[in-house]
Amino acid sequence: MNALVDTSPYVSRRNRVFAAIGDGIAIVPTAPEVLRNRDTGFLYRHDSYFYYLTGFAEPEAVIVLLGGNERRAVLFCREKNLDREIWDGYRYGPDAARDIFHFDAALPITQLKEQLAEMMSDRSVVHTPIGMSAAWDAEISGAINAVRTRARTGVSAPGTVIDVRALLDDMRLIKDDHEIALMRRSAAIASQAHRRAMRHARPGQFEYEVEAEIAHEFIRHGARVPAYNHIVASGPNACVLHYNDSNRRMQDGDLLLIDAGCEYEGYASDITRTFPVSGTFSGPQRDIYQAVLDAELACMESLRPGRPFNEYHDVAERVLSQRLLDLGLLTGSLDEVLEQRTFTRFYMHRAGHWLGMDVHDAGDYRKRGVWQTLQPGMVLTNEPGLYIRPDAAVPEHFWNIGVRIEDDVLITATGNEVLTSATPKTVADVVSACERR
Ligand code: GLY
Ligand code: MN
Ligand code: MN
Repeated sequence: MNALVDTSPYVSRRNRVFAAIGDGIAIVPTAPEVLRNRDTGFLYRHDSYFYYLTGFAEPEAVIVLLGGNERRAVLFCREKNLDREIWDGYRYGPDAARDIFHFDAALPITQLKEQLAEMMSDRSVVHTPIGMSAAWDAEISGAINAVRTRARTGVSAPGTVIDVRALLDDMRLIKDDHEIALMRRSAAIASQAHRRAMRHARPGQFEYEVEAEIAHEFIRHGARVPAYNHIVASGPNACVLHYNDSNRRMQDGDLLLIDAGCEYEGYASDITRTFPVSGTFSGPQRDIYQAVLDAELACMESLRPGRPFNEYHDVAERVLSQRLLDLGLLTGSLDEVLEQRTFTRFYMHRAGHWLGMDVHDAGDYRKRGVWQTLQPGMVLTNEPGLYIRPDAAVPEHFWNIGVRIEDDVLITATGNEVLTSATPKTVADVVSACERR
């Protein structure tokens, strides 16, 4: 419950949708509750598109935007129910939701079916998520059919359904001030968690003990859930890109790769750092670490307004390939390595992705064959890495070294702002952050 909701960002986003849909109708549902096992649910998470337009985090809710002269935002939500509130906690109910979140009207969700048919009547275009869930597709076609059955009363049914997510994706790609403030906070909390992990990790501990330090720091700052499953990967596990077991006992001489970000007020951070569990890098570990760091820093130069999204991916591939050649891990010329993509033995993912409410956030990377141009307000990750599995063709001292370095970057009018810059990154800073000890 929050009686002091700043609704202005949501109202202004809804106004942009009104401007885009003309006299159409936009209908966006929140996410369903999902069972984890038997009768126990996963912790509820709202749908990002719905939340973007409402700031309303309860399940069983739908926002309807009636365009044209009517221009009304109508929320459907759960009714007050003292009995349910004794068991499950507070719910706003339509009246309080309307007043606190500044909707033009709010109605019980039980009226959705009947009201949708009414609201769609004589509107030619419906904007709604298409193919997001079979249940929602059925709800929408059911409502359109219900209008059709009333045709003899003189109403006409919408002839066009457009996926509203294309419009919302374009909007979500450029973060507004409200979002940027939340993302700064999310990044600051995650950064603090990584520093805590560096301070606490030591040989002999299990990976899950370090994971607990990360979770502790997230939760004590009000970020109760991670933005994605933590990756706490020591030694050979660092070469498993989506390692989630967290059950290995760490040894002296291991590197520990932690990819962990929190969700704060609905916004994700996404940080990776790699550090020596014992506090000191071996020679080969430092060489690989420095190669990844050089690539990451070179990528930062391409993260500025006007540059194509793909540029920093090319930079990462070029710098990493050159370093792999320098270290004798690849052979041939740089051009051959890039052309034949032999570097993918050690670097097999992209250099980053949009970041926002979702860790792999909404928005096209390429539109009709042309890479997006970076613009102020976009937020993305910069995350090159190298992963060297045991391989007879590779000197043994490089085996099982996995390094990724990942920062969250806001494109600004003049360049960029690294939201996660408080996370130690140079060899010297990482070593000193590992001292506690
Ligand atoms: N942690 C997910 C990612 O880095 O893309
Ligand atoms: Mn990432
Ligand atoms: Mn990550």
